[in-house]
Amino acid sequence: MLKEKTMPTTEMATLTLRGQTYEFPVTVGTENEIAIDISALRKKTGVVTLDYGYMNTGACESAITFLDGEKGVLRYRGYPVEELAKNSRFVEVAYLLINGHMPNEIERVQWSSLLNSHSMMHEDMRHLFYQYPEHSHPMAILSAMVVSLSTYYPELSQHRPDEPEEAITIAATRLMSKVRTIAAFSYKKSIGEPFVYPRHDLKYCANFLNMMFSSPVCPYEIRPEVVQALNVLLILHADHEQNCSTAAVRLVGSARVNLYAAVGAGICALWGPLHGGANQMVVDMLEEIQRSGQGVRSYVDLVKASKGKMLLYGFGHRVYKNYDPRAKIIKKCCHDMLKALQIHDPLLDIALELEQLAMSDDYFTERNLYPNVDFYSGIIYRAIGIPKEMFTVMFALGRLPGWIAQWKEAREDPRFKLQRPRQIYVGPNMRLMNDADKTREI
Ligand code: SDX
Repeated sequence: MLKEKTMPTTEMATLTLRGQTYEFPVTVGTENEIAIDISALRKKTGVVTLDYGYMNTGACESAITFLDGEKGVLRYRGYPVEELAKNSRFVEVAYLLINGHMPNEIERVQWSSLLNSHSMMHEDMRHLFYQYPEHSHPMAILSAMVVSLSTYYPELSQHRPDEPEEAITIAATRLMSKVRTIAAFSYKKSIGEPFVYPRHDLKYCANFLNMMFSSPVCPYEIRPEVVQALNVLLILHADHEQNCSTAAVRLVGSARVNLYAAVGAGICALWGPLHGGANQMVVDMLEEIQRSGQGVRSYVDLVKASKGKMLLYGFGHRVYKNYDPRAKIIKKCCHDMLKALQIHDPLLDIALELEQLAMSDDYFTERNLYPNVDFYSGIIYRAIGIPKEMFTVMFALGRLPGWIAQWKEAREDPRFKLQRPRQIYVGPNMRLMNDADKTREI
């Protein structure tokens, strides 16, 4: 249960509007973030606020993730992400996000056996994969399959606000475990190979890699460097406070839909090229630079001359006005893994040159455009052998525990409300229909 996490203050903010003065309470978070609570604004003043993109609007109080965009700080439940990436496995970080504490030995064993017991999909779901046209984007398949889980596993009702904890835990575990299987199955289907089932003797990341890359004629060699790199990548993607897809999960979840439907909405939001879809766009961009032979400098000049019409994918962030701390870790992980696998990827050279040019160009630095989490992640996925159409699926795999944790926290929040923003109407004033408007025949 999300307890009142803000510090009780008597501080008030004053608003003066059309000669009237109003007061609104100021709330302060545990990291001294300050907000003006305008819950009573319309009741007191009759007006609403307008904030395109919610650039200045907090949707909730949350105890899950803390970001400091100016200082490039990211912490999950208080732990710096750098610590977690170095010392934990993804499933432990998933447990932390969903339950609020790191698992002890008993909880770790229970969580691991729960994930194993829910790793298979209902056998009937296999046939759904064959109904998609060839070259279907795996994000379309993933979102449809995740929502379809609610038809095979209807334990989560839509209407009971007091859903038993046990049902939520089972649904969360089903999602955590089955989404990995769905992702691997959609890849196998796309290359016309038979599905490889999850194995109980393999841990989360190794199991995923095995389902993706082993086949009846050729077992996959599970390299510890690759498992380690995948754990780090999934940890770095695990949550990021109220980003677009998490906001979608909370908004759709506020109508009290079940967890699968809310996560399906998050997957669709993440697919967008401005959000999680950027990791695929980055590699498209690097490949285009390589193919054109025009060089990185001329591509950067094209972006600048386009005045925002062309984007440097993998650069810029709504919150980080500095280097995304995750990009730093992923860049190092890139170098370490390519070295361990003795791979030279020319796209990494292009990416490094692109970063170096952009970081020394006022156009980008003045706009606080630094590499974000999506800039280097695709290079690692390529080295592992994951096709670029699957990159955003990998992002979703990582973000899943964050979505689950945020959906759960929203439901447990004593101030839980159906999310329904207001607007300012700018259309035609009242007018009556003239004869030309009326239907002549029924
Ligand atoms: C993720 O929110 C999260 O936490 C998201 C995420 C997560 O973990 O959930 O971190 C994951 O989505 C990372 C972002 C991935 N997206 C991309 O890499 C796509 C490229 N980036 C841009 O689309 C953009 O930077 C956004 C959408 C990420 C943020 O944009 P904002 O905050 O809405 O800022 P803006 O669009 O108003 O841009 C401000 C200026 C504009 O120029 P001017 O009008 O001031 O002249 O910067 C320019 C923009 O044109 N600009 C870019 C640019 N991003 C912004 N110019 C070139 N290339 C870019 N990438």
